[in-house]
Amino acid sequence: MKESKVYDCTMIALDTHHSRKGNLSVVSNGREVPFDIRRVYYSYDIPGGQARGAHAHKQLYQLLIAASGSFTVTLDDGSVRRTFLLNHPYEGLLIVPGIWRVLDDFSSGAICLCLASETYDKEDYIRDYDEFIQYKHGQ
Ligand code: TYD
Repeated sequence: MKESKVYDCTMIALDTHHSRKGNLSVVSNGREVPFDIRRVYYSYDIPGGQARGAHAHKQLYQLLIAASGSFTVTLDDGSVRRTFLLNHPYEGLLIVPGIWRVLDDFSSGAICLCLASETYDKEDYIRDYDEFIQYKHGQ
C-alpha cells in the first residue's frame, strides 16, 4: 500500500480478562484486528542492543504484542515517523502494509508476538530503505 500513513497504525486494547488466577487476553479474527490471522510467529532471546525489523511489507497486516517484557517500534511512512513503546501484553500495535518498521530497546526476556494476515512470502518484503522511499514516493 503506497498511500498508507503511520496514522493508520494504532494501539489496540485486547479483550482482557482479569481474575485471582491471573490475566488472559484474546485476539479474534475480525474483532480486535481488521484482518484474518493466517500466521503467528514470535521473536525471543533477543540480545541486548539488537534491532529487528528494518523492512516494510507491500500487502501484509500485522498485530505486534509484547507478550513478555518490552520493546519499542518505530514506524515510518516515508514522510512521518512515530515511535511506540510496547510493554503490556493486553495491547497490540496494528501495522498496516507499506510502513517501514524498526524494533529495538528489547528488555531482557522480551517476547515479540506477531499475528499476521498472510503466510510467509519473502517477495512481500522491502528490505532496502531507499527502495522503500522510491516505492512510497515514486511514480
Ligand atoms: P527477519 O524477517 O529477518 O526477522 P526480523 O524482522 O524480526 O528482524 O526473519 C528472520 C529469519 O526468519 C529470516 O531468515 C526469515 C525467517 N522467517 C521465516 O522463515 N518465516 C517467517 O514467517 C518469518 C517472519 C521469518
